[in-house]
Amino acid sequence: MAKVAIIGSGNVGATLGFVLAARNVADIALIDIVEGVPEGKALDISQSLAILGSTVSVTGGNDYALAKGAEIVVITAGSPRKPGMTRDELAAINHRIVTNVAKQVARHAPESILVIVTNPLDAMTTTAQSVTGFPKERVMGMAGTLDTSRFRHFISKVSGHPARDVQCMVLGCHGDDMVPLTSAATVSSIPLETMLPAEDIATAVQRTRKGGAEIVNLLKTGSAFYAPAVSIMQLIEAILHDEKAILPVAAWLDGEYGISGVYLGVPAVLGKAGVEKVVELNLPSEELAALRKSAEHVREVVEGLGK
Ligand code: APR
Repeated sequence: MAKVAIIGSGNVGATLGFVLAARNVADIALIDIVEGVPEGKALDISQSLAILGSTVSVTGGNDYALAKGAEIVVITAGSPRKPGMTRDELAAINHRIVTNVAKQVARHAPESILVIVTNPLDAMTTTAQSVTGFPKERVMGMAGTLDTSRFRHFISKVSGHPARDVQCMVLGCHGDDMVPLTSAATVSSIPLETMLPAEDIATAVQRTRKGGAEIVNLLKTGSAFYAPAVSIMQLIEAILHDEKAILPVAAWLDGEYGISGVYLGVPAVLGKAGVEKVVELNLPSEELAALRKSAEHVREVVEGLGK
């Protein structure tokens, strides 16, 4: 059985542990800085598996030795947003946390593939790669599959058709400068731009951009976790099953889309080696310009880290 270690057993981490265990995807190790919580949640998840018919093992604790042998390590440790905050405002506090976590991961799971979830996502992915020194293709950030799932939901809302039948992708940074691709969006193979008025598409784009903030404002404490957890699960299944699925992830760019030296959300082939290839779409000029602007935004946040 494959093994996935999840650092941070709060809302996102524990929910991810539960969905992975319920689907019998991998043995799970939940690790957190708080005493008792990862053990407690691991026990609780374990006690659901007889009914669910899953045979995975779920363990929890504070010791990073639990991550030993994990093929994939997911980092969710860090603070979530409070109402009114941007993800970028978490940079200073979460940079310190991700730095500490990444050092431990590099020691205990040196061959693993890292999936970063802590915000600000693109910058924290950079932090994790530079601290661990892992090859760039073994470090990626999860945001694109979440933003894409949100976009599919909002297109479903404005079009009246099931989200399942919506095909689309959101690229760029995980923030207000994300780039929902309207040019490539379809519903059951029908181009979105031919089936919906521009203002309906704009509504779906705007709600996607603000999708996380809308939930933060409603929850008052904490941020989204059900959709984030299954969006991480989608990446994990693609990697562990060597699917070669093309999914949007924060991947290291080295000239693709005319962008270099930054982690940014782009379509990538995911398999056993991690990010096996960045896929370059032939984007219309306005979407390409928006992607490059998004990269500049990430660069600014990364340059501000540790200052
Ligand atoms: N080492 C290990 N775990 C830590 C550390 C650390 N140094 N610092 C904090 N944690 C743990 C907390 O104890 C908590 O259990 O990280 C967990 C975070 O859980 P939540 O507060 O519930 O936050 P969550 O909603 O899971 O979001 C985590 O993901 O989506 C992003 O913006 C979100 O950055 C946030 C992260």
